[in-house]
Parts: sequence; C-alpha cells; structure tokens
Amino acid sequence: MKDVLEKIKAEALSVAEDLKDLKGLDELRVKLLGKKGSLTAALKSLGGLSAEERPAMGQMINEVRAEIETLLSKKQEELGSLAMNLALKSEKLDVTMPGTRPYELGKKHPMTLVTDELKDIFIGLGYEVAEGPEIEEEYYSFDALNTPKHHPARDEQDTFYVEAASPCCFVLRTQTSPVQVRTMESRKPPIKIIAPGRVFRKDEVDATHSPVFHQLEGLVVDKGITMGDLKGALSLFAKELFGGSVKTRFRPHYFPFTEPSAEMDVSCFACEGRGCRICKGSGWIELLGCGMVHPKVLSMSGIDPQIYTGFAFGMGLERVAMQRYNITDMRLLYENDVRFLKQF
Ligand code: DAH
Repeated sequence: MKDVLEKIKAEALSVAEDLKDLKGLDELRVKLLGKKGSLTAALKSLGGLSAEERPAMGQMINEVRAEIETLLSKKQEELGSLAMNLALKSEKLDVTMPGTRPYELGKKHPMTLVTDELKDIFIGLGYEVAEGPEIEEEYYSFDALNTPKHHPARDEQDTFYVEAASPCCFVLRTQTSPVQVRTMESRKPPIKIIAPGRVFRKDEVDATHSPVFHQLEGLVVDKGITMGDLKGALSLFAKELFGGSVKTRFRPHYFPFTEPSAEMDVSCFACEGRGCRICKGSGWIELLGCGMVHPKVLSMSGIDPQIYTGFAFGMGLERVAMQRYNITDMRLLYENDVRFLKQF
C-alpha cells in the first residue's frame, strides 16, 4: 500500500513538473483524485485491510491527498499567472499610442464655392449655364466679338496662340465672351445664359495676376431688351451677392462687343461707401464689365439686330473670391496649400 502511494506521489510530481497548461492540470487532477482516480482506488482498497492497519493507512492516504492537492493548486496558480502574462503580452493595449486618423473630408476650393454661389444666384434669376472650349478659334475669340485685327487684345504679348493647321487658328481663350457667340449661333432667342470658366492671358504671376484665371460671362437676348434690363438684372445680382444695402453705379467704358458699354461698381462692403483701404478711399469697388450687345456681334452670330437686342456682362471670379474671403494674394488660390484650403 505504501509503495502504491509513493508511486502515485511520484507520478503526480513528475507529471505536474511538465504541465504546460490548465487543461493538462485538470486531466491530472481527474487521473489522481477523480472518482476513478488512483488515489480513490487506494482509498477503496482500505476495505481489504485489517482493522488495525486501516487508520494508519487511511491517514497516510489523506496526507498524500493533501500533498497532491497543495501541489495541484500551486501548479494551478503558476499556470494561471503564466496564461495571464501571455494574454497581457499578446493583447497589450497602449493607451498612449496615437489613434488611427479618420479619413479627412475634403472641402470645396474657394473658387468652386464662389462659382457655385454665383451660379445659384443666376439660376435663381432664370439663367441657364452654358459652356465653350478653352482652346478656342481665333474667330470666336476676337473676330465674331467685333475685335479687329489691330486690337491690342490680339497681340501675342497678351494671348497664347496655339499652333494649328490653317485656315483656322486657335488660342487659349482670353475671356469667356466667345461662349456668347457660340450660344447665339446654336439657338434662337430668347437667350439667357451664364458661362463660368477658365481663361488664359500672358500675365506674370503676382498678388493680383495669374496667367490662368476664371471669368463668368452673362448674355441675355430677346425682343425689347434695354439698358434698363441690364441695370435691373445686375443691381439685383449685386444685392444677392453682397446684401440688400449694397449700391451699384455704372460708369461708361469701352468694349468692342458692346455698345454702349459700362463698368459696374458696387459700394464698398467693408466701409459701406465711406472710403477705406479696401476701396482705396473711393467708396466703390469695380465688379464687372457690361453693355448692350453690339448689333454687329448679333448679326455675325445670325441674330437680326432689327428684331432682337441684348445685354452682356463679364466678371473675374478670383476678384469676387478674394473680396468674399478677404484673401489678399491671388497666388494662395492656386498653390493648394492644405492649411489655406482647410479654412473654407
Ligand atoms: N470679356 C471682358 C473682359 O475680359 C469682360 C466683359 C465686358 C464681358 C463686357 C462682357 C461684356 O460680356 O459685355 O474684360
């Protein structure tokens, strides 16, 4: 009996030594102490002993059981903390680590914002949006707009000419006005369009110039359109853009494709016309060029000036964006510095 117990103890010790996990420990516990375990079997065999031997052996079995239980619970503790350490290592969470950045939402460029705003205003006034090519025929850029061969706007110093097969010569359009002609050629009045888009001139880059910039053109042609319609429409537009209290004034000017022609100023939104640094003390800010479409331009586009009249206007969009957002250097609009663009 004693030998049996020694063997059980030895087995317990050696198996426990090599245990790797809690599952193995459970198996060992069942094998030794379970209902069919070896120690239980030893206990059962006490019945075969004499009454004198039984108490001493019984006590011995209890001692071995106690020893094994201590051993197993020690082992359980050891394996438990081993498992915990492993889990801690593999599931480590460093709360001081910077989080993964969410994707940043993009924003509309200030030029897009301003273009959208102007489109909204004019669409609200019943205008449609028209488009034309950026590489434009010289005819549409100048001739059809009553801009004669000797006009300085056609000078190579001002315009990017594109080499192309004769007889047609192409330029990067210097204004959005060619869209007027293309629209009049392709449809009958009533016409009421705006044409926003990119234009190109041989300008040096500085705080107020860029060889690529944006304009918005407008054209209205119908029976009985007068300068009064022009003034009414553009004053309304200015109020929509700058607020109801803005004043407008029209100064005589010259454009080859309109007659009469004018420039429209708006009262300075910074000082409300009192005079400040922004309006250079005058109280007024120049906003756009406009005029009654020249009869020659109408007839060259296939519209009878005896029946129809119209007005047109054109404005630089960079200037509107710069005024709207208080931007003092045009280059900021093209450099695409995210720190700048994020602000809109
Ligand atoms: N195209 C002119 C420019 O680039 C702006 C302009 C003035 C357009 C008067 C017009 C107009 O349609 O009627 O300076």
